[in-house]
Amino acid sequence: MGPYVKGFLEPWRFLFFVLGAVYWCTLFVTSSPIGVPNLRECQLATDRSVVGPLTTVQLNCCLPIPPGNVIDFNFGKYKTTTKRVRMPAHKVGTDYIAKYRRAYELMRSLPQDDPRSFATQANVHCAFCNGAYKQAGDDSVLLQVHFSWLFLACHRWYLYFHERILASLVGDPTFSLVFWNWDDQRNGGNVMPAMFLPTDSSLYDAKRNQANLPPTLVKLVPGITGNNSEIINQNLNAITGTDLSNSTVLSAPLGGSIENGVHNAIHFWTGDITQPLIQDMGTFNTAARDPIFYAHHSNVDRLWDKWRYGLPGGPRSDHSDPDFLNAEFYFYDENGSLVKVKVSDALDSSKLGYGYPEVAADELWINYSPAPITSGSAVPAASASGVPFVGGAPQHGTISLGSGLTAIVAAPGNTSRVKKVTRDSFVSVLVFVNLPSANSSTATSSAEYVGTYNIIPAPGKTLTANVKLEIGDNLRRIGIQNEAEVVLSLVVKGNQPITIQGLLIRYE
Ligand SMILES: *[C@@H]1O[C@H](CO)[C@@H](O)[C@H](O)[C@H]1NC(C)=O
Ligand SMILES: *[C@@H]1O[C@H](CO)[C@@H](O)[C@H](O)[C@H]1NC(C)=O
Ligand SMILES: *[C@@H]1O[C@H](CO)[C@@H](O)[C@H](O)[C@H]1NC(C)=O
Ligand SMILES: *[C@@H]1O[C@H](CO)[C@@H](O)[C@H](O)[C@H]1NC(C)=O
Ligand SMILES: *[C@@H]1O[C@H](CO)[C@@H](O)[C@H](O)[C@H]1NC(C)=O
Repeated sequence: MGPYVKGFLEPWRFLFFVLGAVYWCTLFVTSSPIGVPNLRECQLATDRSVVGPLTTVQLNCCLPIPPGNVIDFNFGKYKTTTKRVRMPAHKVGTDYIAKYRRAYELMRSLPQDDPRSFATQANVHCAFCNGAYKQAGDDSVLLQVHFSWLFLACHRWYLYFHERILASLVGDPTFSLVFWNWDDQRNGGNVMPAMFLPTDSSLYDAKRNQANLPPTLVKLVPGITGNNSEIINQNLNAITGTDLSNSTVLSAPLGGSIENGVHNAIHFWTGDITQPLIQDMGTFNTAARDPIFYAHHSNVDRLWDKWRYGLPGGPRSDHSDPDFLNAEFYFYDENGSLVKVKVSDALDSSKLGYGYPEVAADELWINYSPAPITSGSAVPAASASGVPFVGGAPQHGTISLGSGLTAIVAAPGNTSRVKKVTRDSFVSVLVFVNLPSANSSTATSSAEYVGTYNIIPAPGKTLTANVKLEIGDNLRRIGIQNEAEVVLSLVVKGNQPITIQGLLIRYE
């Protein structure tokens, strides 16, 4: 689920493909809600290097077990008396920054085994995504909160308690996290926020990509090039997504476009590319060791609300599947107690006592409608030059992508109705339509760019994912919406082997 811009003008036409990559964290697929893990059964978390020689790194991110009972979250106990307003990081003043620094100084100075310490806060992320715990009720499955709709709710809870701890440490109930407004391509949100940069600050982290300090603009698609205005256009064109509000947890177990697109892109862009794991931000294990992590996720959280209430065609609704609503997680509160929370209590940010101001620059990506660089269908020329026809799985078996694949795919009429299919998956796979020459240096600013699927590095596992991208607006902008066949190009950035099982365009 994600900020969703494309596709609200027309019946939706989606491109699907099943992607396999040798990579990644374990995925869970289960028929009952995700439960809390047994914190007494902790093992080392593992990670694999992605830069330099292949090494496996093992980390102890086992979480402290505080004395006392586990608290079941309820709104009575966690009453909010004042509303917290999370401000954009590039807009807050010196007093705000001073308090923010103080809060993280205090958090960093707590003993490591204190549940409220910065070290523990960072380990929470590692523990729940690198296999430190088994999933409750199913010993065969390691706990992992990414790659699903749980991603948004789990990170909302994470920030909620993190913010409460910081507020209690500075003794200010109005203390609010900031959000890194990287999607703002107009008013300065699209660089690393200045407040996180001074090296003598508690907000600093040395393990960041030094080539990406300001004034370098963020890249919401990994590896894009060009001058600043070209980067800005490509960034605007990247904040699109697939609106899966009607799909269920079970039918969509692999995460949405906000997670696999812009969210992963910022992790990769911020992490230190000279480190084996692109740490800190570039890998799950260490991402939350950088205070900028919480500001990054605050923006993801803001975009969830934006998607829910503030986009054309809204308001939208969250999933109502009980397996989603009843999924449970553990976090530590400001007193260091363990609290058990449920997804269903996280759906309304105002009920949790915080919110975000309207961001005027949102309108730029909401209204972004890139011009095409092609005209007419590329099918005849592609066909004449021998570009293959590739249909849906399984008829063509597995196709190895190598550095990329260009294929002709049937585009069905408007009337067909099909069941929901899920999607997902850093290596990056970029998709273009009607552009047979597309390759890893092709700009993503035009109407031919469909979307990107980013895979963040983690343990060496095999991932199979359904990728689903909205393609109707692309076809309409290029003027080829009535063609029976279209040319699709999948471009791979990175060197992990990736296969697909087929390409399919459908209406929903
Ligand atoms: C950026 O590059 C584009 C394409 O080469 C060019 O048209 C534009 O003038 C450049 N803009 C700036 C500000 O240099
Ligand atoms: C979800 O389903 C409802 C009821 O069928 C429909 O009205 C709504 O447009 C759908 N929304 C999306 C985003 O698919
Ligand atoms: C935290 O501890 C303080 C002092 O004992 C207490 O007043 C407060 O209610 C506690 N907070 C929660 C959420 O339990
Ligand atoms: C699909 O529907 C649009 C309008 O909703 C129409 O203009 C177009 O011709 C249709 N395409 C096909 C292939 O039927
Ligand atoms: C790569 O793509 C660009 C833009 O689409 C194109 O101009 C260039 O010729 C392509 N390079 C190759 C080797 O196809």
